[in-house]
Amino acid sequence: MKGMSILITVVGSINMDLIVKVKNIPVQGETILGQEFATSPGGKGANQAVAAARLDGDVRMIGCVGEDVFGSELKSHLHYENVNVSNIRNVPNTSTGVANVIISNNDNRIIVVPGANYELKKAAITALKDTISYSNMVVIQLEILPETVQTVVEICHEKNVPIILNPAPAEHFDKQLMSKINFLTPNENECRQIFNMEMKDALEMYPNQLIVTLGKEGAQYFDGQNHVKISGFPTKAIDTTGAGDTFNGALAFALVNKYDLSDAVLFANAAASLSVEKQGAQTGMPKKEDVEKRIAFSG
Ligand code: RIB
Repeated sequence: MKGMSILITVVGSINMDLIVKVKNIPVQGETILGQEFATSPGGKGANQAVAAARLDGDVRMIGCVGEDVFGSELKSHLHYENVNVSNIRNVPNTSTGVANVIISNNDNRIIVVPGANYELKKAAITALKDTISYSNMVVIQLEILPETVQTVVEICHEKNVPIILNPAPAEHFDKQLMSKINFLTPNENECRQIFNMEMKDALEMYPNQLIVTLGKEGAQYFDGQNHVKISGFPTKAIDTTGAGDTFNGALAFALVNKYDLSDAVLFANAAASLSVEKQGAQTGMPKKEDVEKRIAFSG
């Protein structure tokens, strides 16, 4: 932790991304040759933690890895990225989470095997109640057990700690949580999946709370009177993996640093636009001055 600085706690997944580049996705029963393979640190939780730490946030991560090569590599990597790893547990006899990331035509498809991420249980969160309570912001996603997410939300609500919930993947999101969280940040698909209505109607139900990310188009929310669309920044996308995570990490950083909501979303859009310019979820995540430059150059 950096002295008296403002603490962002990220609760979530830590994965090794196994990245395969292919020209075309194989059909059922087909075997094809891919073009490239790489391993790269990922997991929505870890990505969001690194995004906020690169911007100079004081970030602590709560999560689990296996007692295997990926686990120790990912933990050392987070430490190297200035994320506090003292609440990352090594779980025996379980593999570290992995994500198979298939990149084709500048788009990605991801299959996650949670492994140790599903060993982050309610009891561990309860034991860390004090740590969570003295955070200035908590960020959480849905690659961990629903009961764990629920417990974190309950603690934040009880202790008045602001929380951003990034509902990805959206399938386990419980809409009841809306009454206890400050921000929900789905993409358009996740928004449709969760609310089962037009995006515009969902936004109007949750003013200044629901922020829908729109890929290269930016992000949108409803301020109680108007729909506010904050445009994205022009970029040359190499790999969009982790763009949403960069958005969330940057949004947390901006909000704890007292940006108003529209400036925070603008800042997060700029950070996300930079993140897609390199391969790998975390490689392109920018430093604060790079984000500021991109905003300044856009006029
Ligand atoms: O959001 C991107 C992330 O989703 C990848 O890094 C992968 O690990 C999956 O969790």
